[in-house]
Amino acid sequence: DDVDVLIMAAGTGSRMKSGVRKQWLTLCGQPLFSYVTRLFQMYGFTSVAIVMHEDDLVPAGDDLREAGLGATRLVAGGPDRQSSVRNGLRTCTREMVLVHDAARPFLCEEDVRAVVARGRATGAATLGHAVRDTLVRAERETIAGRVEREQLYQLQTPQVFRRDWLERAHEEARCAGFLATDDTSVVERLGCVVDIVQGAAHNLKITEPSDRLFLAMWEALRCG
Ligand code: CTP
Ligand code: MG
Repeated sequence: DDVDVLIMAAGTGSRMKSGVRKQWLTLCGQPLFSYVTRLFQMYGFTSVAIVMHEDDLVPAGDDLREAGLGATRLVAGGPDRQSSVRNGLRTCTREMVLVHDAARPFLCEEDVRAVVARGRATGAATLGHAVRDTLVRAERETIAGRVEREQLYQLQTPQVFRRDWLERAHEEARCAGFLATDDTSVVERLGCVVDIVQGAAHNLKITEPSDRLFLAMWEALRCG
């Protein structure tokens, strides 16, 4: 296939407040980073790189080999997500790059197929879903204004790009000192149009302590 998969797992997980970095929390007996790697392998992707925190490279390598995922490339991340993506990108050679957060383990095959197809067709696509809650602006924890929900989406990963676009976007963002939380922001700066593909709302990012509930629920429903 023509897609390099980058699995981002080099963060510190500060909001999760778990004893371990959150990519080491387990799902069905596997750390999230290796669980997600297996998902992409099952979905038929042949080039997968995991970007890990530099302190985790050795234990992560051991874990992947034990899980039979030894062919996965392991890359050291950087201090922010963008530099981690840049490090991963340097190992990519294919036409398209797919960037996914290791902290989103509930990704289904149908959504991956859809966003890859759209990325191939247009050059840049992300999964996202329409905001469903009522939105307000707050001041000191009281409602201070309303926000129209109509046009708002929450972006997820995977995000899929032509490799040449993503490389150029990251290089220019680095030079400009522009820092963002995802790759669509970086690519948009170049004037590229990014398509949104509606994905499942359950493709959420394990972020805060209460999200452990979702890991437990998924495990109860899908594992073993
Ligand atoms: N990530 C990364 N390199 C970084 C920062 C983040 O590879 N320097 C990865 C994380 O491991 C995660 C994904 O990007 O899988 C999404 O980031 P986020 O949910 O913000 O994770 P963390 O930065 O680890 O968590 P926090 O912001 O709570 O510290
Ligand atoms: Mg973060």
